[in-house]
Amino acid sequence: MPIQLRNLVHLTALCCTLLTSVSRAETVTLENLPKPKGVAQYTGTTPQLHAATDKGLFVSRDEGRTWNLSYPFKLPATMINTTADGSLYAFVVAKGLLRIRSNEPMWRPVGNQFGGQVLTQLTAAADEPNRLVGLNQFGKIILSDDGGASWQKTYPGNRTLTPSAVQGEKLFTTYCQSCHGLEGVGETYTLEALTSEKYIMAPALDYSAHAWHHTDEALVQMILEGSQRTERMPAWSKQGLTKQDAVDLIAYMKSLWGKRELDCQGPKHMQCM
Ligand code: HEC
Repeated sequence: MPIQLRNLVHLTALCCTLLTSVSRAETVTLENLPKPKGVAQYTGTTPQLHAATDKGLFVSRDEGRTWNLSYPFKLPATMINTTADGSLYAFVVAKGLLRIRSNEPMWRPVGNQFGGQVLTQLTAAADEPNRLVGLNQFGKIILSDDGGASWQKTYPGNRTLTPSAVQGEKLFTTYCQSCHGLEGVGETYTLEALTSEKYIMAPALDYSAHAWHHTDEALVQMILEGSQRTERMPAWSKQGLTKQDAVDLIAYMKSLWGKRELDCQGPKHMQCM
């Protein structure tokens, strides 16, 4: 189930382009700039043009003629935006959301609890700079009320959980969230996970990965018996969870799915791809 990279629509041939730390001094011309995923103007101390590319974040101080890395990792950057309060934000895979505020000389980390998601857009109103609205690569809107440190999904209408899902949510928070992420967004990318072929990441259990390709029975079995491929996903029956716990956990997982995933669960999923 090596699905994480497939989820990252922007990331192809990732392994070989990844370098941990690289020199900022190297200057590239516009022709040699990796194809930008986004550009943003930023005034800061001097007028600058910033670009998010597959091979990192770049800055130009001569209206785009020459560029330098503005962040010392050639990791894929999927978004760069200024917000109404004058901050500059960027999203870099494995580093998360970064920000520069007026007169700050360098990028600062804001949050990296995105699981399998990357941001493709971000916006904030001038009078509420800590309330950020983002778009992920699946086209879903996600929200942060704490300036980007933590993020929540948006749900259509009022979301009422069944008693089983409420119970499942408690179990999920206790036993599963540490790997599968808040609201089942999956394990957050790290350099280790991206570069080591042996590292099996904990997939998203929400709508975004392929948990919904399995029937309830298969999911119960996976939870109680664990994965054949990695000890990271243990047999939870040996850790004291019961079949009813697994059923409750699945009820909670399914509260994180959309209509398509619920309608197309299990063998039907092929018709819904
Ligand atoms: C220590 C990390 C870790 C914890 C904690 C953990 N998991 Fe997992 N889980 C994984 C990994 C890694 C995989 C991928 C296994 C594989 O690909 O064979 C996985 C796979 C799964 C899958 C299969 C998903 C799919 O799309 O096929 C389900 C379902 C699942 N976990 C549910 C749970 C539940 C429920 C809990 C809490 C009771 C839990 N996991 C706790 C690491 C973890």
